[in-house]
Amino acid sequence: MEIAVILAGGVGTRLYPASSADRPKQFLSFDESGRSLLSRTVERVEKIVDTVYVLTRPEYADQIPEHAPHATVLTEPEGKDTGPALVYAAHRIREREDDPVLLCVPSDHHVDRSFASIAERALRVARETDQLVTLGIEPTRAATEYGYIKPGEDHGEYYDVAGFYEKPDPGAAARYIYNDFYWNAGVFSWTPTSLLEEARETELAPLVEALDVGEEQRGFAAIDSVSIDYAILEETDEIAMVPAEMTWDDLGSWDALQRVHETDEDGNVTTGDVLTIDAEDCVIAADETSHISAVGVSNLTIAAYDGRVLVVPNTDTQRVRDVVEQLRE
Ligand code: GDD
Ligand code: MG
Repeated sequence: MEIAVILAGGVGTRLYPASSADRPKQFLSFDESGRSLLSRTVERVEKIVDTVYVLTRPEYADQIPEHAPHATVLTEPEGKDTGPALVYAAHRIREREDDPVLLCVPSDHHVDRSFASIAERALRVARETDQLVTLGIEPTRAATEYGYIKPGEDHGEYYDVAGFYEKPDPGAAARYIYNDFYWNAGVFSWTPTSLLEEARETELAPLVEALDVGEEQRGFAAIDSVSIDYAILEETDEIAMVPAEMTWDDLGSWDALQRVHETDEDGNVTTGDVLTIDAEDCVIAADETSHISAVGVSNLTIAAYDGRVLVVPNTDTQRVRDVVEQLRE
């Protein structure tokens, strides 16, 4: 049984002010279709698998059916990032489904049609090798917001993974690119049994043990927030990479819009009621209550949502995370 697990419990802080704690990015739309990133993800994966689960934290569970009416909603006891969430999903699905193999997909991605056949290959490799399988993308820049994979032996359909390095500093990222490492696409395939076996060797072991005895709440309360990348993928040897030749982007920060959307003749990407005069290479987004005029500026990101305005150079959009942190304090 092939099962998609769509990760839809993140907050998406770097898309502030479009995203907020009660309106995370998976529920937002960034194109003319008006369809949310989550609903587009469901549409993409339901053709590939037998059943679709959407995995989220309790705060967002009520909003999921609106975006994914036919999916089963799986709610982890507490938002503790993707490590605990994916361990929880593996544990629950192993109890509920017959001989499952999972395709775990984020809900913040932009991909093309080749995704389906590549995902099918990942499912096959996970089933046949019992390894944790991740998709690898050929990098185009020294991004610091992704994981990097050092490919090992070539097995035709997949590579062994000789090293996994999550969110490196700029110097390391440049070195990885130079040495032909891949980006971790954040799309994974594994059987629940393989994932849980590996998790038992890591900092997530106490959580697996708590789940084994039916103590979900206690297990989550006692575990630190950690992504699957740091908790398991950087630690395990049982990992394989399926190279993915496809258009791929993570719509995690404002600069991604410039990469995935068509620009006007001056290089601007705009959504909502926006007027540009002599503006170049800007990303400008206004909600339905806002109007933005940009005159004589270049390489700026300007976003206005709910009476909150963000202005940041395109080169610094990763720093929007700091804005959200300071506002929280
Ligand atoms: N259920 C649940 N619970 N989902 C979560 C949680 C949580 O606590 N936290 C995040 N998610 C969801 C997000 O909504 C998103 O769909 C997905 O998990 C990935 O989380 P991100 O926060 O977007 O991760 P990232 O982009 O920083 O890094 C990951 O993806 C990169 C590629 O897009 C890593 O896997 C990197 O290695 C990878 O390169
Ligand atoms: Mg992401």
